[in-house]
Amino acid sequence: MDIQQPLALLGGLTPAQFMRRHWQKKPLLVRQAIPQFKPPVGRQDLFALAAQDGVESRLVQLAKGAWKLRHGPFQRRSLPGLQTPDWTLLVQGVDLHNDAVHALMQQFRFVPEARLDDLMISYASHGGGVGPHFDSYDVFLLQAHGKRRWRIGRQKDLTLREGIPLKVLAQFEPEEEFVLDPGDMLYLPPRYAHDGVAEGECMTYSIGFRSPARAELAQELLGRLAEDAADEGASLMYRDATQAAVAQPAAIPAQLQDFAREALARALAQPLVLERALGEYLTEPKSNVWFEPGAAGVMLEGVRLDRRSRMMYDTHHVFINGESYRAGGRDATLMRQLADQRQLSARELARASDDALELLSSWCDAGWAHSWKA
Ligand code: SIN
Ligand code: CO
Repeated sequence: MDIQQPLALLGGLTPAQFMRRHWQKKPLLVRQAIPQFKPPVGRQDLFALAAQDGVESRLVQLAKGAWKLRHGPFQRRSLPGLQTPDWTLLVQGVDLHNDAVHALMQQFRFVPEARLDDLMISYASHGGGVGPHFDSYDVFLLQAHGKRRWRIGRQKDLTLREGIPLKVLAQFEPEEEFVLDPGDMLYLPPRYAHDGVAEGECMTYSIGFRSPARAELAQELLGRLAEDAADEGASLMYRDATQAAVAQPAAIPAQLQDFAREALARALAQPLVLERALGEYLTEPKSNVWFEPGAAGVMLEGVRLDRRSRMMYDTHHVFINGESYRAGGRDATLMRQLADQRQLSARELARASDDALELLSSWCDAGWAHSWKA
């Protein structure tokens, strides 16, 4: 993607300008971000998805002033009628289930893939919404069908209402209000208060991001480092030939503390362990993802990644679906190209070494990638 090219998607800003001026800083309303937008997933498709196991869905309903929340899967008959007002069905991760939705999400890859999360679709009857709230992550709210009235504000008081199953702000103080039509889009930075209410039947597509918390990263990475450390230093025991006799047997020896500190420092000092653990973690498929094995031994023409595959790279590695590979030279260039473009043409593949071709064909066997006629 040319990050210096103005985009209708960003209201005529270039991705570079958008990231500098708005990302994590201030909202952006874009009229006709996608002109003549035809939603690839309509009401029936969404209801069908919400009925499936392994698809995360929620139903939020405001009935007689009380917020109610139920988790899917939902059979069609267990959803309220279309004429019943004030309910909304939210389906998470639709990009994993639909190629066109996945392709739509790719338009937002001016943000690093490591930060992209999923595309959620909400369907609401008249009056439906999830109440005034804030999210911890950035979001692009693309209006897909019908109208939604958004009220937003830089709320200071983030106190939530108590005793209800949703996160709803106790005192919402909106500052701006917009009605979005199909193709319009609103970007909101994290913790910006918002409330979207459907005006008639309405569908909204939310392009969502993920942002690891420091504690979560530490936990994940240390867990992975621990596995490596268990493989490596298993035989090296603490020795204390110089230990003197003790009168206070319960006191932990300082020498043992030093040994522990060194064990940890050594685990971290292994070259590239942190980079490898991070890449493996970031490309780990979501828990509800599984791949169908592809046809064995397919001849590669072009190759494209399956929509569920996560592929990234750093200076020394290529990562796909939680696995890491050391790569250098021409093959590394090619693999990075595959990760960035998510596909390689037959011409591009012609530059691959036999090892790279073998690896790609094993990914096709696993269903992570597909052979494709370019
Ligand atoms: C919705 O689509 O109803 C909710 C999206 C949001 O407010 O984050
Ligand atoms: Co929200």
